[in-house]
Amino acid sequence: MISRLEELKSKCETALQNADTVSGIEDVRISYLGKKGVLTDILKGLKDLSNEEKASVGQAANQIKTQITDAIDAKRHALERDEMNAKLVSDTVDVSAPGVGRGSGASHPLHRMEKLIVECLGRIGFSTVSGPEIETEFNNFEALNIPASHPARDMHDTFYMKDGGVLRTHTSPVQIRAMQTMAPPLRILAPGKVFRCDADVSHSPVFHQIEGLLVDKHVSFAELKGTLEFFLRSLFGDSKKVRFRPSYFPFTVPSCEVDLECVMCKGKGCGICKQTGWLEVMGAGMVHRNVFKAVGYDPEEVTGFAFGLGVDRLAMLYYQISDIRLLYENDARFISQFKGAA
Ligand code: PHE
Repeated sequence: MISRLEELKSKCETALQNADTVSGIEDVRISYLGKKGVLTDILKGLKDLSNEEKASVGQAANQIKTQITDAIDAKRHALERDEMNAKLVSDTVDVSAPGVGRGSGASHPLHRMEKLIVECLGRIGFSTVSGPEIETEFNNFEALNIPASHPARDMHDTFYMKDGGVLRTHTSPVQIRAMQTMAPPLRILAPGKVFRCDADVSHSPVFHQIEGLLVDKHVSFAELKGTLEFFLRSLFGDSKKVRFRPSYFPFTVPSCEVDLECVMCKGKGCGICKQTGWLEVMGAGMVHRNVFKAVGYDPEEVTGFAFGLGVDRLAMLYYQISDIRLLYENDARFISQFKGAA
């Protein structure tokens, strides 16, 4: 019996030597040590032997089982290592190969437009300030001469917060914050998001404005006109006509709406300007004395003008974008068209 075991061991060793793949080794293991393996068979047969034989054969069989198991493991490890080494050699990385390009992004047309406007007015001394998107009713309305009972509140389609705050409906409350914290003279721009509770093809519930405010001694309406004409002509071309139409805002008097000669039809009349030849691009006016009083400025000492323009609308005209929703869908194909743009 013992000699049979020895013979079995040497046969197994030969089989192992001949096996040259990991799966070949697994075959050897199954045929010797598997459930129906040769050695397993012998071990199963131990129970039929006499007690002395059981002891000696059992011991030898277990020893051989351990030796075979060890030999299989050793060979398997050696082969796995060889296979890994071979793979490492054949899988060499070409460090000089060009990488996979990700392409560069493009900044959003709204950002570009805002930057252009801020740069343009920065050249004549306006610097940028900012204010929070959640405002107090005082800053958004009262201080701007819009008391609670004022009909102009309805025009603003306000989102009210539970705690009494509002999502600012325009950037004008930043005028209030600026004047509360800075003494005149003042020349500021306040770009930012504003919110109104209405949405259709040409209105988004969130859009972008830039507020302008200039306060000094003896500021006149002529300066308002000169500043805004300079600004619009710098952006859209020196020959563009600009027109000031009387209008109404509670926080400015006199107030006006500023129209730019249509950029599509050059004043002839088209679908974009609704056949008028003109595009309304911003609201403006001389700061109302009640606004100065609300922030502690003396209306006998200073005067000023303010304007508010819609960045979305200007961007649509400047880049000739026909649908406001394109600005908010974040479609990379749309945005990438602005890569080289000014
Ligand atoms: N805040 C006004 C609006 O949102 C625009 C404006 C700003 C008008 C400053 C006059 C002066 O409609």
